[in-house]
Amino acid sequence: MKFSIISEIKKQKIPCLVVGLFESDKLSPAIKQLDTISEGWISQLIKKGEISTKLGDTTLLYQVPNLLVDKLLFVGCGKEADFNEKEYKQFVIKATGQIITKQISDVVFLLSDLNKSKGYQFARQLVEEVHQQVYRFDQFKVKKKQPAIALSSVKLAISGSKENIKQAKLGLEHGLAISSAINATKDLANLPPNICNAAYLAAQGQQLAKSHTSIKTTVVGEAGLKKLKMGAYLAVGEGSANESMMTIMEYQGAANKKAKPIVLVGKGLTFDSGGISIKPAAGMDEMKYDMCGAASVFGVMQAIAELKLPVNVTGVMAGCENMPGSKAYRPGDILTTMSGQTVEVMNTDAEGRLVLCDVLTYVERFNPEAVIDIATLTGACIVALGHHYTGVIANDDELAARLVTASKQASDKAWQLPMDDDFQKQIDSPFADMANAAGRDGGTITAGCFLARFTEKYQWAHLDIAGTAWKSGAAKGATGRPVAMLVQYLLNRVGKN
Ligand code: BES
Ligand code: MN
Ligand code: ZN
Repeated sequence: MKFSIISEIKKQKIPCLVVGLFESDKLSPAIKQLDTISEGWISQLIKKGEISTKLGDTTLLYQVPNLLVDKLLFVGCGKEADFNEKEYKQFVIKATGQIITKQISDVVFLLSDLNKSKGYQFARQLVEEVHQQVYRFDQFKVKKKQPAIALSSVKLAISGSKENIKQAKLGLEHGLAISSAINATKDLANLPPNICNAAYLAAQGQQLAKSHTSIKTTVVGEAGLKKLKMGAYLAVGEGSANESMMTIMEYQGAANKKAKPIVLVGKGLTFDSGGISIKPAAGMDEMKYDMCGAASVFGVMQAIAELKLPVNVTGVMAGCENMPGSKAYRPGDILTTMSGQTVEVMNTDAEGRLVLCDVLTYVERFNPEAVIDIATLTGACIVALGHHYTGVIANDDELAARLVTASKQASDKAWQLPMDDDFQKQIDSPFADMANAAGRDGGTITAGCFLARFTEKYQWAHLDIAGTAWKSGAAKGATGRPVAMLVQYLLNRVGKN
């Protein structure tokens, strides 16, 4: 799909023009112009109530007199004074819905009356929303669902100052990189676990390095993990025939090659059966999504390489599969982590923290500016924050605040949970340095406490995406979260907007 910014719509033939319409007695300048050309046709229809101005209502007109436009799609925008980000989102979603059902291939969004000085935000949001609306994952369906997506060209007509147009172009560029990263993350996450295993993630990481010279990818298999003494990570994968693999993608964007990197660590459980502490059957298929943290790291790496952000970022996908079997690790086992600390396994379903803790020790060698791990870590996070907010836990409140700010800017919400020593007691073990699971109470926080014991050497934040990484039910599918938030955090970090 091609997106572009234009400033003039005069004298060109347009297959479909999308126009937002406010509730008002007066026509906005752009619509007034269209109305004049059509000799009052549009204003007549509005007067008769044939074109609704109610937020989200759409009216599609054909063959409007004198206009070089095949189809004119009006989208109600409600009261101008109430028109903000949320309303704009509705405008884009409703318009795109019509464009998809009518199988329109070529469209111009006339944003000149809406965008004012918000060129950056409006362009970026539009690109991201349209991508979200047209996303399909149907590569395994022989009979594809109709209607197929016909849309191939989207133009944004933006007016205002030169600066506003320049900002809109930047918003478009950022929106495109973020959208294609979100799509890559969704694709990877939606793949079935018989295809997407740790080796598949590794191959994707290597592929990314092939398409971007700024990225170097290294893969560490089980022999390598053993050499590194990653006893916890390895234990989780013991029950699976699929080899555990840690994929490290190093992006060099900073002018100073030695500048400390920001490190992203993604939980990559390509399937989490629970292991010996097996999960109930209902909904277990969704545990293919237990690699969404890794998939989001992949997406972020792709986006920053496309945007050529001047910062060094190292992304690690901790690929692994948690299965029961005669070789599987079991409750009662005591594992020695790479850090030397020991862990008593209380529940083999609390596997994410075991994989992550060793990777968090491993990344010390990068001398990181900050480390952020992203994981579908606890069901408790869904109890706490529902499916709306990603949970944030950190050993550095400023880092947490920067992430929460980025999450707001990117409409990819996140909320910080507390973490202090009062919770640490819950993971005490009578036999080892700590237990891998505590009771139900404060489950997201005690998981954070566990990870905190491996991150004392650097600034660290943990994102629990158990509730936000995918949707269940009729609309089942990966969301691509928290790619937008993380790319925003990195854009802010380099001061690029
Ligand atoms: N991957 C799950 C967490 C999860 C469950 C995410 C459901 C999204 C939906 C994780 O490995 C897990 O099983 N966690 C346990 C931890 C418990 C045993 C301490 C959980 O949340 O129940
Ligand atoms: Mn689990
Ligand atoms: Zn898991």
